[in-house]
Amino acid sequence: MDRFKKLLMNNEAWVTEKLNLDKEYFRKQYDEQHPPYLWIGCADSRVPPDEITGTHAGDMFVHRNIANIVSHADLNLMSVLEYGILSLKVDHIIVCGHTHCGGVKAALGHRKLGIIDKWIRGIKDVYHNHRDELDQLEDENKVWDKLVELNVKDQVMNLAKTSFVQKRWAEGDFPVLHGWVYHLEDGKIEAVSKITRDTEIDDIYRYNFDEEPTL
Ligand code: CO
Repeated sequence: MDRFKKLLMNNEAWVTEKLNLDKEYFRKQYDEQHPPYLWIGCADSRVPPDEITGTHAGDMFVHRNIANIVSHADLNLMSVLEYGILSLKVDHIIVCGHTHCGGVKAALGHRKLGIIDKWIRGIKDVYHNHRDELDQLEDENKVWDKLVELNVKDQVMNLAKTSFVQKRWAEGDFPVLHGWVYHLEDGKIEAVSKITRDTEIDDIYRYNFDEEPTL
């Protein structure tokens, strides 16, 4: 059987299963969404956010890209953040990296790979900013894993620097920003950073919301 046909058959089985449990399942989903979580993860096929966190349809607003990068120049992610934070009002934003991330590995190398070189350039900056710590690690895989962790922490800080996050912080405690690393080797998630409205952030990145425009 064609591989893609299997997906459509799986879909039919899934619809039947949901309707058996709740005849109104799809009508309820159709009305609106109130997800409490926003997930920013790597596009890697081995890190399916719903599956590894036991969440279901309606629980999580999701953005994925290569190496879970939070770039203020990325219109796609900035649109997701604006809508997720200011309209959906998610309470928690998770940046989830993972061990053996190909994007991070590529950033550690020197080969020209194509347009992705531009995308992962920021990870080279993370390396540059933590060179002292990384250069002390002798094992190549340890450097790789450490850079995955440092990249996650950096991307979480990038979230804190956005006007969307700061605007919600001006009104209350949420969102809370979480940095996680998913370990491919054992399936476990490790929490590596957390930023709240009370976390100290360099004043140069702070916005003043007394005057419009707010974006
Ligand atoms: Co990856």
